[in-house]
Amino acid sequence: MLFNVCNCGPALVANFAHVCGGGAGFFSAVIATLAAGAKTAPAKTLRGDVPAVDKLAVRMVTDNIVIQFIPSETRGGVTVERKSGNTVPDRPPRNILNGEWGLAMHAQSFAGAEERNVLIDFGYTPEVLLNNLSILKIDPATFDALVLSHGHYDHFGGMVGFLKATKGKLKGKMPFYVGGEDTFCLRRNPGGNFGALDRKAILDADLTLMMAAEPAIVADHAFTTGRIGQTSFETPLRATDEIVGIFDGFGCFPEKMPAEKNVGKYIPDDFEHELATVYMVKGKGLVVLTSCSHRGVINTVRQAMAASGIDKVHAVIGGFHVVPPLGDDYIEKTIAEFRDIGPDFLMVGHCTGDRFYDLARAALGDKVIHSAVGTRFVFEAA
Ligand SMILES: [Fe+2]
Repeated sequence: MLFNVCNCGPALVANFAHVCGGGAGFFSAVIATLAAGAKTAPAKTLRGDVPAVDKLAVRMVTDNIVIQFIPSETRGGVTVERKSGNTVPDRPPRNILNGEWGLAMHAQSFAGAEERNVLIDFGYTPEVLLNNLSILKIDPATFDALVLSHGHYDHFGGMVGFLKATKGKLKGKMPFYVGGEDTFCLRRNPGGNFGALDRKAILDADLTLMMAAEPAIVADHAFTTGRIGQTSFETPLRATDEIVGIFDGFGCFPEKMPAEKNVGKYIPDDFEHELATVYMVKGKGLVVLTSCSHRGVINTVRQAMAASGIDKVHAVIGGFHVVPPLGDDYIEKTIAEFRDIGPDFLMVGHCTGDRFYDLARAALGDKVIHSAVGTRFVFEAA
C-alpha cells in the first residue's frame, strides 16, 4: 500500500491513501524515526503508594459543546467554573472559546508548595486548541508532561500544530506519555482515513516519548492506568479499524506489535493502547480523566481503582462513549455499575452521549454535571 503526503481530504481508495498526521506532518524516511528511537523510553511504572495532591483543577480546553448562561457554582465541595460570554472583553467579540469534536484537558495540581501542569490530549485542530489555550491564559511553558489517551484524531489532531507553535518554549525532554506502540498505527473510521500520530513531530520537539503500557507516574502527581482490562459487562465499541506497518513514515513498527495484529490489512481496533489519567485528591478519592472510554467507562474506572489499590472514586471526567448503537439497557447497566462504585461526581463531556446524560441525570441527579469548553473543575483535599 502506498501513502502520499497528508492533505486530510480524500477517502481511502484502492491501493492509494493519504495519511493525516496530526495536522501537518509528513516525513519520508523511516530510518529517521528509527534513529530518533533513542528518545523513546519505558515509563516509570507505578509501584506502591500512589501520589496524592492537595488541590486539583481540571480545565476543559477543547470539548464538544459551548455552554452559555450557566453561572459558576460550588457543589458538594467542588467548584465548577464556567466560561461564557465575551471571554476577552477588550477585544472584538470574535475572540471567544471555540468548541469542536475533540478533547483536550489541562490538569493543574498542587502538593504542598509543589505545582504541576499536564496537558492531556490535543483536540481535533490546533486552531481551536491554541485559541482556547490563549483565551484561558494557560501557558504551555509551564507544562511538566503531555499525555495522549489514544490514537484517535479527535484527541491528537491538534498536536503537530501545537508543537509547531510552542517550538522552543516547552520544557526540554518533557515526557510525552502514550499507551504503547499501537497508538501510532494508521486508523480509519467509517468515513475513511482517520489519520496517524506523527512520531517524528514528537521526537523533533525535544520530547521524551514514554511508552506506558503499565500504570505509570506522570509529573510526580498523577498516574496513568496502563492497559484497561475488560472486567465489566462492557464491550469495546470498535469505532475504527487499524493496520500494522509503516507507510511513508507513519504507523506502528511491526516488530513492536503482537504477531496476531500484523496481518497486512485493516483489523478492528481493540484500543488496547488506550489509557486514562488519574489523580488522588487527599481525603476525597480518585479523580479519573477518562478521555474517550473506548474500553468501557466502567472498565476504565475499575482499572484506575485496581492500579492504585484505592476504591474511593471522587469524580470521573471526560468522554464516556455510551453512544448508539448502545441503547437504554446498556446505559442502565452502566448507571447501575456507577451506583456500585459510588463516585461523588460524573463530569460528562466530549463523546459521552446525550441519552446517557439524560438517564444519568434522572438516576443520579446533581452528581452528574455537563462539561463544556472552558469549564474548570476544582477539587480540594478534605
Ligand atoms: Fe474521542
